[in-house]
Amino acid sequence: MEKENLKAAVHLIKKAGKIVAFTGAGISVESGIPPFRGEKGLWNTYNPDYFHIDYFKSNPEDSWRLVKKLFYEFYGKVKPNAAHSALAAMENRGLLHAVITQNIDNLHQEAGSRIVIDFHGNLRHVVCTKCRKRTRFADVDPAQPVPECPACGGIVKPDIVFFGEPISPGVQRESFRQAEEADVLLVIGTTGEVMPASMIVSFAKENGADIIEINTTPSMFTHSLTDIFLQGKAAGQMTNLCDTLGVSL
Ligand code: APR
Repeated sequence: MEKENLKAAVHLIKKAGKIVAFTGAGISVESGIPPFRGEKGLWNTYNPDYFHIDYFKSNPEDSWRLVKKLFYEFYGKVKPNAAHSALAAMENRGLLHAVITQNIDNLHQEAGSRIVIDFHGNLRHVVCTKCRKRTRFADVDPAQPVPECPACGGIVKPDIVFFGEPISPGVQRESFRQAEEADVLLVIGTTGEVMPASMIVSFAKENGADIIEINTTPSMFTHSLTDIFLQGKAAGQMTNLCDTLGVSL
């Protein structure tokens, strides 16, 4: 069954005009970043309420402490894994047009992917809550309990989408345009539990895309939208896919 699925996936990719990847936390698990949900999910250890924009606004110091502990502790230490590299290699071969990622870890960019849409933002930058200036996280003083804007001294927040925050209209527009144009959507490592991100998959399907899904366990999409389910870890499945496509990593 697995071999047939892989062959069917390669057939769809070879005949597709436009291929887009939609990724979630599962693609970074083999880089050492735990997923949010499931047995070892981060939300089993940390209360997601503390990652709500209202909590950040009323408790910036504690919110920054948690964000640094939860996200920045991994950030800069973990490296892309073979799944990230495989997507970058497919893009180099003209077999992938864009990655839409829910992840904030910047690993697609570090693996060499050039067209990456950070649907939930990216830890690489912070944004000033006063003057809106975006600054590289590397250029603020991370030791400050609440890092300050180098331009106006205002409180900066990580350039990530907190719960309760809207997704930037430009990011949504571009993401849904990519999904609309996709002939194949490669869905990797996501439960599909978070809106509006998960609507990208149904929107691509409604506009004629074939859905190829890679996940270790079935997701919200598997029994409803997925056409080909490659069950297994992202690094191994993507390596098999590239080997069969003749794309060297
Ligand atoms: N390879 C492939 N898939 C994996 C692997 C792996 N090695 N390990 C785990 N998975 C799968 C899990 O089965 C699960 O379906 O990855 C998925 C991770 O799901 P979540 O932790 O819910 O992550 P995600 O779907 O990206 O969450 C969406 O929720 O909390 C918010 O903003 C956060 O972007 C995140 C959003």
